[in-house]
Amino acid sequence: MSSLPFKVSWCSPSNIAFIKYWGKKGPQLPSNPSLSMSLKECHTKTTILFSEASALKVDLKLDGCREDKFTFKIKNYLESLVGEYPFLNHLQVDIETHNTFPHGTGIASSASGLSALALGLTDFIFSFQDRRGDQDFFQLASSLARRASGSACRSVYGGFVTWGEWGNGVGSDLFADPIDVHSSLKNLRDSIIVVDSKEKSVSSTSGHGQMTQHFFSEARFNQAKFHFNQIVPAMKTGDFEVVGRILESEALSLHAMMLTSPSPYTLLKPSTLKAIEMIRQFRHDSQIGLYFTLDAGPNLHLIYPESEASKVLTFIQHELTPLAEKIIHDEIGEGPFRC
Ligand code: PMV
Repeated sequence: MSSLPFKVSWCSPSNIAFIKYWGKKGPQLPSNPSLSMSLKECHTKTTILFSEASALKVDLKLDGCREDKFTFKIKNYLESLVGEYPFLNHLQVDIETHNTFPHGTGIASSASGLSALALGLTDFIFSFQDRRGDQDFFQLASSLARRASGSACRSVYGGFVTWGEWGNGVGSDLFADPIDVHSSLKNLRDSIIVVDSKEKSVSSTSGHGQMTQHFFSEARFNQAKFHFNQIVPAMKTGDFEVVGRILESEALSLHAMMLTSPSPYTLLKPSTLKAIEMIRQFRHDSQIGLYFTLDAGPNLHLIYPESEASKVLTFIQHELTPLAEKIIHDEIGEGPFRC
C-alpha cells in the first residue's frame, strides 16, 4: 500500500442530463443509456486524507461542519467496496468537501461530490498499483463513482458524456465515456432558474425504485433508447433544433414518470409550468434556439448556444426573474481536475 498518510484534492463538476437515467437494475446499472453535459462553475472541491487505522473510520466535513448523514452514507459506500479493496478496512478517511453552488437548486451535488470522492479514491488506489494510464484511471473512477450515485459516473469527464450500453456493443453500463460533438455545441450555456429551493419531497432513490413496478417502465426505457439514438447523430452534425426537441421531451417524460408512478408525486411547481410556457413563446417569437430541461425537481435548466447569450439573458432578466428565487449562470465545462 502507498505510504500513509496520503492526501489528495479534486474539483469535480455537476452535470445535467440531456437523456435521463431513471430506473436501474443490479449493482446500480442503468435501465437505459443516458447522456449529459458537464458543468463548469457548479462543482465540488473535496480533499481526502487517508491514514492508518485499526478499522474503517470516516470523518466528513461539509463547508467546515461535521455532517453525520453524509458520513454515514460514505462509510456505507466504502464498506460496500471492502470485498474488492480490503485495505479500506484499515483506514481512517478524513474528507473535507465544499460545493460552489447552494443546496436544493436542482444542481446535482451528489454527482459532483461523489465523483470527486471517487477520483480521490482512485488516486489512492493507483498510488500503490502499477499506473495504467489515464484511460484506466478515469474508467475506474467512473465505475467507483457509479456505485456511489449513478449519474456521478458521468462527472469524471468534461463536455458531453454517455453512460450505458446503447447497441452493437457500444457503451458500457459499468462506466461512462466522453463523446465528441459538433463544434457548434461545444459552447452551450446553462442558466438555472431556481423557482423553489426547498428540499424535494421524494428522493431520486425512491423515484428510481418506483420504476421497477411502473406501468410505463418498458415504454419509458424504449423511449430513452430511441431518443439516445436520435440525439447522438444530431449532436455530431450540430442539429441543435433536434437536440433541443429531445431535451425537452426527456425532461417532461421524466416528470410524467413521477406523475404516474405507483405512488404518484409531483415535483413541478406552478412557476415551472409558467416558465415553460414563456420559454416556448420566446422561442416561437424570436426563433432563437433556447430549450429547457429539468432534473428531479422543479428548477429549470435553460440550454442555449453562447452566440445567443445576450438575447437570452435579456429574456431571462425581464421575463423569468419574477418567477425565480435565484438564477445561476453556468456553461459546459472541461471536467474534473486535481486542485
Ligand atoms: O444519480 P441519481 O441516482 O441521483 O439519479 C439521477 C437522475 C436524474 O438526475 C433525474 C437523471 C440523470 O440522468 O441525471
